[in-house]
Amino acid sequence: MAGNPFHYGTPAEGVHFAGREAELAALLGRVRTGVNVVVVSPRRYGKTSLLLRAEEQLHGEDAAVIHANVLRSRDLASFASQLATQAYRAPGGRWHRARQAIPEFLKRLRASPTVTFEGEHPRFSFDASLRAPDADDLIADVYGVLGEIAARRPATLVLDEFQDIIELGAHLPRLFKALADAHPKVSLVLAGSRRHLMEQLVSAPSAALYNMAEPITLGPLPEDVIAAHLRARAAAGRKPMSEAVARLIVGLAGPAPNDIQRLAYETYDTAGTTIDEGAVYAGLTGAVAHDAPTYAERYEALSPGQRRVLSALAEEPTEQPGGAAFLARTGLANPSSVKKTIDVLRAAELVANRDKAVVVADPFLAAWLRG
Ligand SMILES: Nc1ncnc2c1ncn2[C@@H]1O[C@H](COP(=O)(O)OP(=O)(O)OP(=O)(O)O)[C@@H](O)[C@H]1O
Ligand SMILES: [Mg+2]
Repeated sequence: MAGNPFHYGTPAEGVHFAGREAELAALLGRVRTGVNVVVVSPRRYGKTSLLLRAEEQLHGEDAAVIHANVLRSRDLASFASQLATQAYRAPGGRWHRARQAIPEFLKRLRASPTVTFEGEHPRFSFDASLRAPDADDLIADVYGVLGEIAARRPATLVLDEFQDIIELGAHLPRLFKALADAHPKVSLVLAGSRRHLMEQLVSAPSAALYNMAEPITLGPLPEDVIAAHLRARAAAGRKPMSEAVARLIVGLAGPAPNDIQRLAYETYDTAGTTIDEGAVYAGLTGAVAHDAPTYAERYEALSPGQRRVLSALAEEPTEQPGGAAFLARTGLANPSSVKKTIDVLRAAELVANRDKAVVVADPFLAAWLRG
């Protein structure tokens, strides 16, 4: 039998990628013209998928693309290593024409990396003793390399999970601002979740990177688009799904594309030869059961007041968390303690604001809380 045709958890590539035509065109257009961009969405809406899709196309056009994941960089040295390794591979670098390309490339860097090989590709690495000023020089040198290439072809530095940049160095937002100003033809693409952190970095008037990048905000995939995609994938997996069932999945698990795909995945696994409504509910039960131990652990770590607020929101989202009805449902003393509790839960990404309401962010956690 064919494998499960749905995919969640890691970026959606190839046949798993749906929609986002307008966002993709906006992103590509800006990168090609050297405009800086900031891509923002809640967790798991598809930022990395969109970046990878754009990068694949840019590679096909022989553009120079450097992509680093800020969150996955252990420290400044490993971040610097990623940048240097990819800078070397970028097309359009003049060192590629030299007989001794590696020494020619290293002349452009003030810091000296260790060179190892992955097959024929060199990898440049710095160890944890790399001092912060040297790391800054390295970042500036890599940006300079892109700046040189950008005179002749599109060049971009893509920094995913940028909301965590401060963890690598509180001064880095200012460094990137200075480099972006110095190299206006390079497109700096910053992507991140956790809106309040991204705002502090990019969109608040006090932010280091204020007003220097055009925002692209990812919302949910339109219901028509994601429903059609689910039906096409189901058909590819030889277990057809009606329009009504596709919309049921979207209604139960949406709006985050990851959650929709996850429910579709579980549903496909439990379904017989066609995917019907019963399979969707069985899939939901399966997904919840699978994560129950994690949910229990997270729930136990909450204070009694936080638990009551979370459970009340799982039963029914509220548009008036400060209202008397919600106070009565949670037993909290006053609107300000409700507000504080919700702020803590929101910072922990357990609750979110959707339309006008406060809701439990993860639909499977909400189902678990409802029991
Ligand atoms: N364009 C898309 N088409 C179909 N599914 C998508 C799309 N974008 C995202 N998804 C679904 O969402 C999941 C997560 O996507 P992705 O990792 O790109 O999100 P993200 O916003 O980068 O998440 P994070 O905030 O955790 O970094 C994918 O595995 C897939 O199930
Ligand atoms: Mg991502």
